[in-house]
Amino acid sequence: MAHKIPEETLTEIRSRVSIVEVISVYVSLRKAGKNYTGLCPFHEEKTPSFSVNDERGFFHCFGCGEGGNAFTFLCRLEGISFPEAVKRLAAKAGVPLPQEPDGPQAREQDRLYRLTSLAKTYFRYCLLDEQVGAAARRYLDERGIPKEVAERFQLGYAPAGWNGLVRFLTNRRAPMDKAAALGLIGERSGQNERNRPGPQQWYDKFRHRLMFPITDVTGRPVGFGGRLMPDPQRDAGRERPQPKYINSPESALYKKGSLLYGLFQAKEPIRETGRVLVVEGYTDLISLVQRGLRETVAVLGTALTLEQLRLLKRFSTDIYIFFDGDDAGRRAATRAFPLCVEAGLTGRGVFLPQGEDPDSFGQAQGLEGLEELIDTASPLEEFYFTQHAPPPEASAFQRAQAAKAAVAVLSPMTDTLARGALLTQVAQRFGVSEEELRRLRPNRTPQRSAPSPDPQRSRPGSPPSSAELELIQLMLVDRQVVTHVCERNLIPTFQEWGEVAADIAQAWQQAAHTTQAGRASIDIGAFLDRLPKRVADYVSKTLSEEESEERAATQEQLMWDCIGKIQQVQHKSKRVRLQREIREAEQRGDDAGVRQRLEALRALGRS
Ligand code: UTP
Ligand code: MN
Repeated sequence: MAHKIPEETLTEIRSRVSIVEVISVYVSLRKAGKNYTGLCPFHEEKTPSFSVNDERGFFHCFGCGEGGNAFTFLCRLEGISFPEAVKRLAAKAGVPLPQEPDGPQAREQDRLYRLTSLAKTYFRYCLLDEQVGAAARRYLDERGIPKEVAERFQLGYAPAGWNGLVRFLTNRRAPMDKAAALGLIGERSGQNERNRPGPQQWYDKFRHRLMFPITDVTGRPVGFGGRLMPDPQRDAGRERPQPKYINSPESALYKKGSLLYGLFQAKEPIRETGRVLVVEGYTDLISLVQRGLRETVAVLGTALTLEQLRLLKRFSTDIYIFFDGDDAGRRAATRAFPLCVEAGLTGRGVFLPQGEDPDSFGQAQGLEGLEELIDTASPLEEFYFTQHAPPPEASAFQRAQAAKAAVAVLSPMTDTLARGALLTQVAQRFGVSEEELRRLRPNRTPQRSAPSPDPQRSRPGSPPSSAELELIQLMLVDRQVVTHVCERNLIPTFQEWGEVAADIAQAWQQAAHTTQAGRASIDIGAFLDRLPKRVADYVSKTLSEEESEERAATQEQLMWDCIGKIQQVQHKSKRVRLQREIREAEQRGDDAGVRQRLEALRALGRS
């Protein structure tokens, strides 16, 4: 897939930053032979299976299969996007990016972030103020929320008046209309106001509330949640009741379905523990964190979305979701299962006793009780199968129908062993034949994350690009393969991956010119971003392993298979072209032309 950042810039950055240097910030690495090794930061392990190749700019873990280059490492570890990783490494390398993100849109975003940061500062300042924040601090004390936790989540306090934030922002000449668009302040309807612009036109939306800044995965505030503080006046019924919680509205910064509260703070703990706990809201999260479960994130006012699960997957694939111990909770667990499958996660449901939430349960049972509850979590498929399994009296057709639906849900699973085990369960619990079930062709839902092939180049009926990709894998690790491919002039017939293949061939050619002695090698890291992840994984794995004759033999076999497949396509399109030209020559009465092409057609048949 093309990115906006030119390939030369990426290469330039890569050549200036050593991947060992980048990874060393997070992992302690030791030189071992031609590679560096250490404990993998992506899964828990006691003996190092994580290997980094400095010369060729990639890493690979033999334990969990994770692999890639310096950019992908940062993306995965910090949970940031590719352009963000590039930005960071560019800064480190001192390489100017041609399109610094100061287009009008980026500038607008920066202004909005400045506003949310200002508001956060103000709320924090109010909480810490001796007088203004006294009631809120007392509330924190009563809930047993320690200072460190309040600080970790940058909790604040929005005072009870109507214009504290308005005045704070006005003094700093902040754009008030933008603050209103972010839902920080509101605009008075103006009926009983003198119609003049000024601070009195605006009012604070969050009043007398404990403030929870909501941040994105990099820690930038995008919105707020506010919990109403106890108030004697109001509680005595002298004032209109206010909602207990209010949230920033969706805005240019805040999209509630695509972020998770607390993920920024939970990144490290999730890696350390190898799991992530998901709860419903701020106080549940704070409560678990204050009891020591720092690997917790919260969804805010939505059911878990696929986007959120994909975000989590960057940090862990073992996810524990807390549900209420009632029917609604079980239904929610059932609905979460297909999403987890689609995101490639192992989901478990943690069920609270009826009437309890994680906070109340933790208060009563402490960390031990919570851990015990988490240990008893059931895999989400349990709930799905229970909910969807046909009743004993169901007809054969109803069973078949239900089983087919379950097979469709399981179809995105790439772990074929796990999928097979689940199919066995479906057969047993749905009362259908396992053998027949396995024969069903799962009607795969299109993988949204997979790069869609260029429709111009891959025509229907063309073979899958897997031969091309497999050949590219081999071209990256072995220059002999490149020689074979180039001798047969195969690259122009590549339907999807020709451009990358051509660049790889060129890189090898240059390497041959510049390396005088010994074995030439190319900067593999440069290509990994342009290829699907499985290719990158294969390449980094192969190159990190010791070479063996057995592997060389399998690779050679694979190479000839791929070359054969691609040649078939090449021949077929040549044949079709010749046949068309023969027809045209016949129509023209061009006998010589016909003969010449018939000869070519025969030659093609022989090869
Ligand atoms: P609670 O009603 O228990 O909130 O909601 P609380 O602050 O703990 O109130 P008390 O002290 O028990 O009365 C449980 C969870 O639901 C979230 C909260 O953040 C909390 O994690 N929640 C509740 C919201 O996000 N929005 C709401 O409107 C209500
Ligand atoms: Mn509560």
